Amino acid sequence: MSLNTLEEIASYIVSGGKGILAADESNPTCGKRFDSIGVESNENNRRDYREMLFRSSGMKDNIGGVILFDETIRQNAKDGTPLVDIISNQGALPGIKVDKGLQPFGDLDETVTVGLDGLDERLKEYVSLGAKFTKWRAVIKIGDGMPTQECIDANMKALADYAKIVQDNGMVPMVEPEVLMDGSHSIEDCYDASDRSLKSLFKHLADNEVNIKGTILKPNMVTSGSNSNQQADIDEVARKTLDCLIANVPPELPGITFLSGGQSDILATAHLDAMNKIGGFEWKLSFSYGRALQAAALKAWGGKPENMFISQDALSHRAKMNKLASLGDWDQGLEDD
Ligand code: 13P
Repeated sequence: MSLNTLEEIASYIVSGGKGILAADESNPTCGKRFDSIGVESNENNRRDYREMLFRSSGMKDNIGGVILFDETIRQNAKDGTPLVDIISNQGALPGIKVDKGLQPFGDLDETVTVGLDGLDERLKEYVSLGAKFTKWRAVIKIGDGMPTQECIDANMKALADYAKIVQDNGMVPMVEPEVLMDGSHSIEDCYDASDRSLKSLFKHLADNEVNIKGTILKPNMVTSGSNSNQQADIDEVARKTLDCLIANVPPELPGITFLSGGQSDILATAHLDAMNKIGGFEWKLSFSYGRALQAAALKAWGGKPENMFISQDALSHRAKMNKLASLGDWDQGLEDD
């Protein structure tokens, strides 16, 4: 694969309905996922699980990029093959999470993502390890008095600073402003927080002269809070999400790849499909799911090597369903019962 420019890399990742497998859980987060199936989270188990995912047949044709955690980009498979080579051989590009997590911000329960210190040096190493794109996640909370504009702006400025440094190192930055689903807020509150975040993000990206054609946006969908007793239906989520994106995202951005954020795997597919069936935008609208791609595979695996094939089938199935949804061709009744 010879992809020379940022534009070519970004476009390749989302070409033909492909999306991204987010497998960049930090060790504590991976620990929580493994706890749910009674498996110890140690280096070997994390390697075995991810090697199994990356060798799944459904990676081919459906997955254009895989986001890795620092530990994983350095790991070899059991037979000694670097995991990044397994990913590349499946036709996907290796990516790397480069932020250093969240720090408290201001007087409310808000956070700002950190990791700019030493980023340039770390990126140079990741390039040498084969990374073609990167991810930085900002977290915006909805609640009493939140989000504050100060918190939004601090996070979006950090995202834009990160994006510029990444492009200067020849990789595609994925910018992830995640408005959390946690809470009992309405879908209108989520629209407002998402709208303010995207406005601030694209202003700061322009201020930094970030090349939008060599950038991927990883946003939340506009949904009701997960504890709200008024859950918006699929059509409303699709329409409000599209309205918010169309109002804020330049058409030349090559790809928008959603996070799943705690949605069930079928719902994450259904929302994506509904948006692509509505249409009316120029970017590719695809997925960068963690839980919504992995949940069934993790459960099927249960830490037992003899479950490898059913686990890989589960990942392959979800990858295929989400590719169909990225093309607006998913049909739950026919294909996903
Ligand atoms: P989820 O799809 O599980 O939200 O994970 C995506 C991700 O990478 C969050 O940063």
